[in-house]
Amino acid sequence: MGGRESTMVLLDSEGRRCDGRRVDEPRRIMIKAGGLKNADGSAYIEFGDNKIIAGVFGPREVHPKHLSDTDTGILRVRYHMAPFSVGERKNPAPSRREIEISKVIKEALEPAVMLEQFPRTVVDVFLEVIQADGGTRCAALSAASVALADAGIPMRDMVAACAAGKVADTIILDVNNEEDQAGQADMPIGYMPGLEKITLLQLDGVLTPDEYKRCVRVGIDGCKIVYDLQKKALAEKYFGGQQ
Ligand code: CDP
Repeated sequence: MGGRESTMVLLDSEGRRCDGRRVDEPRRIMIKAGGLKNADGSAYIEFGDNKIIAGVFGPREVHPKHLSDTDTGILRVRYHMAPFSVGERKNPAPSRREIEISKVIKEALEPAVMLEQFPRTVVDVFLEVIQADGGTRCAALSAASVALADAGIPMRDMVAACAAGKVADTIILDVNNEEDQAGQADMPIGYMPGLEKITLLQLDGVLTPDEYKRCVRVGIDGCKIVYDLQKKALAEKYFGGQQ
């Protein structure tokens, strides 16, 4: 991003991106609720070539005990990339990047989860990236929401996430790995569609004020697409597909 412009053609003369998508077209998204028998709730997401499993445990007793809060439950999130999830083997130890992503996903979920109903407890969310291709934080956040709902944790809304960005001076929806590496901006957004509230917004790159507003609008449109698929995944598991 910024200063990493490559010679790769990110947008051709017909307005097609490096993977053949139109500027406003997301990658193929598949979400499944459930799947992990030992978790209280779980979900699996494929977002383009990203493949991520989410497992939720709790509400349960907090260990160590001094971390518990008598007024509310707490949320813990661990985002982790498997060593084989990227081209160059990733050290399995938590990196600074994984610690940051765990923190932003936790903060993006907190406004949605009604933790005040479960004082002194913890809800643990484990996010395992088994294949990464740009946009894992958005895909992981979207899967985490479905897994929390699958665990029966009361929620004010789902959090759906998608990135917008800028390549070849054009605003695009859902930034893939090449576009992230060689493009001009990447803006991951987490959004509660029912409450119309943004819970995650990061920006890597440089945008004008007008481009910034357009990116937010385009990113929210992407979140709404993800939201429909989240609801569909839960409906499939619990109501045989009827929403
Ligand atoms: O995945 P996300 O876009 O949320 O985060 P990022 O830090 O912008 O990473 C972009 C992409 O870089 C990831 O999705 C991976 O495909 C890739 N990556 C990698 O190849 N090796 C790493 N150790 C970390 C990230």
